[in-house]
Amino acid sequence: MTHQECINCGTKYDINEIVYFCKKCGDLIEVKYNFDELAEKLEKTNWKQVPLSVWRYKDFMPIQDVSKIVSLNEGGTGLHSCHKLGKQLGLLQLNVKNEGENPTGSFKDRGMTVGVSKANELGAKNVICASTGNTSASLAAYAAKSGMRCTVLIPSGKIAYGKLSQAMIYGAKVFQVRGNFDQSLDMVLKLSEKHPSIYLLNSINPFRVEGQKSLGFEICDQLDGEAPDRIVVPVGNAGNISAIWKGFTEYHKLGFINKLPKMTGIQAAGSAPIAQMIKNGSTEMVPVQSPETVATAIRIGAPVSWKKAVNAIRNSGGTAETVTDDEILAAQKLLARVEGIFVEPASASSIAGLIKLVNNGVIDKGERVVCVTTGHGLKDPDTAVKMSEKPIEVEAEMTAIEDALGLKHMEILAR
Ligand code: F0G
Repeated sequence: MTHQECINCGTKYDINEIVYFCKKCGDLIEVKYNFDELAEKLEKTNWKQVPLSVWRYKDFMPIQDVSKIVSLNEGGTGLHSCHKLGKQLGLLQLNVKNEGENPTGSFKDRGMTVGVSKANELGAKNVICASTGNTSASLAAYAAKSGMRCTVLIPSGKIAYGKLSQAMIYGAKVFQVRGNFDQSLDMVLKLSEKHPSIYLLNSINPFRVEGQKSLGFEICDQLDGEAPDRIVVPVGNAGNISAIWKGFTEYHKLGFINKLPKMTGIQAAGSAPIAQMIKNGSTEMVPVQSPETVATAIRIGAPVSWKKAVNAIRNSGGTAETVTDDEILAAQKLLARVEGIFVEPASASSIAGLIKLVNNGVIDKGERVVCVTTGHGLKDPDTAVKMSEKPIEVEAEMTAIEDALGLKHMEILAR
């Protein structure tokens, strides 16, 4: 019923074959389904009664043996109605899908539960990834749960401490590479090719994309069977925007939604090869040699899934935009202070992008928008502390607080 297929030349591969790039043309691989069979199968089950989670959608996933599923209860994250922020921007409807609510604090868990379950089904004992932080935290957790040996490569220096601590405590073998993410990814691609016993779990792994597409399904289910007009999502290695689009298109093919949203990708100005492609109308990605941004999660110069992402943006009538570090940090603070949602800088780029696109008229104020915030703010506490007002040191006396808050001493005592 399911198979894998090259997105360029259409070469087909068995669903249980380990293939990261097409053996004929070298392009990306995706999982394909027979939708008539899938629709028939879905009709016979009560899947819509299963609580919101990645595994509500198990029939849409490439797992054949459910006993091999490795789960930490991922998905089912909140779709927060952000009236106050929406009103400030003059938007008809703004929702934030907060992926920081996943078990390891980022959307990566959606892909990893499916990727590691498939690895388990295929009998893998060793797993590997390159990461700017969140992928390594997630893979380390699911590898620990399933008893696989986990190796992660992260760029030295520029990793947020929350993420590093996760990979370390879950027991992964952590290598800090003297280089950037793109070089680390290149190394794991070569390592897994040279040593086929090491299973690669970066987002070129088509099974990970399958898990991440559940983000699209969930948004539609939370909006009572409707897709929003637009999805705004941060873009780094470009797996997530491609996966979310795949989710929407599959729901559309099955008749669960009757329109598709405009996919809108946001990149940090210092690492924005996809936004450049969209702006220039070009068909080839020009890598950024030394990517730089405070949003370390998306500090990526050569996104491996660029072709899928660009297809998603163009086929949906969406767009891509860049945001500066200052705009990202301001949006992070705004979301925390107006809506009570604390996200890491890369996640806040979707809010920064939304603000920019509303202000320059690309996003119409009548649109129903969902912004995806991809990772929890505690992933990168240093940045949050650096940009907030410092705690005020006082003596251990009530009057010190009263003075600092400008309260009259008597007023407090009278209560
Ligand atoms: N937001 C966060 C918090 C991320 O960690 C990432 C990617 C993205 C957005 C971009 O998603 O790569 O699918 O376009 N983090 C990867 C990692 C690269 O290694 O954790 P993408």
